[in-house]
Amino acid sequence: MLCVIDIPAAGRKHLLNNHLFVYGVDREIERVLQSLDETSRLENSRAVTVPAGELMSAITWDTGVFFNILLRGMRAKNVLEIGTSTGFSTIWLAEAIHDGSVITIEADSKKRSRAQANFKKAGLEGCIKIQSGDAQDVLNSMSSSGEYNLFFDFVLIDADKENIPLYFDMVLPMIRVGGIIATDNMTYPKKFTHMMERFAKSVRQNPRVRTVTIPIGNGEELTIKI
Ligand SMILES: C[S@@+](CC[C@H](N)C(=O)[O-])C[C@H]1O[C@@H](n2cnc3c(N)ncnc32)[C@H](O)[C@@H]1O
Repeated sequence: MLCVIDIPAAGRKHLLNNHLFVYGVDREIERVLQSLDETSRLENSRAVTVPAGELMSAITWDTGVFFNILLRGMRAKNVLEIGTSTGFSTIWLAEAIHDGSVITIEADSKKRSRAQANFKKAGLEGCIKIQSGDAQDVLNSMSSSGEYNLFFDFVLIDADKENIPLYFDMVLPMIRVGGIIATDNMTYPKKFTHMMERFAKSVRQNPRVRTVTIPIGNGEELTIKI
């Protein structure tokens, strides 16, 4: 699959949000990201009541920019995401890659539909493939196909927190040496802290990786395969 984002000079402008500037983002992608970010901020402010099953629970804006810069620096082509929700993080990832694709896994059909509509609005549907179903089942079938051995440059783990250690172990053989696994919610919300600390401790004892917790957004664990 080919993902080429052509930004005509006339369409280039900065993207301003909460004192953060992102230059060179396509106008349609900008609109979708800003609208999703507004929804996410409203959700987090608790100014609106959103039914639990409809929460975006998205990464923060600065985390999106951070991943985008990281992927561009790595010249990442093959990206995997566990936990799409409405596609905010997926769009940040997809905007960074050229000549590659993002596979994103989501169990909830309503969220998949919302994400698909957002990818279409952003003009990125051609380089994002949504895998429906439970992450464990999808990862099992990806793993047993043998097709994804050492395949991914970058993986974002952002689904059910209880299964993070399992997802980490399942994706490690699928990521190339020098590839990065990012795990969201290392420091926030506090209800996950105990689980995340246990995960951080076990990753630090894994001789196949080097890892650090970055204090950005909700706290990102960045783990490089060595
Ligand atoms: C934190 S949200 C993802 C947010 C998204 N990465 C973003 O930043 O925009 C987690 C998502 O994972 C999905 N999810 C939770 N458990 C899952 C599972 N076992 N398999 C697949 N998806 C799952 C939820 O439905 C939810 O949409």
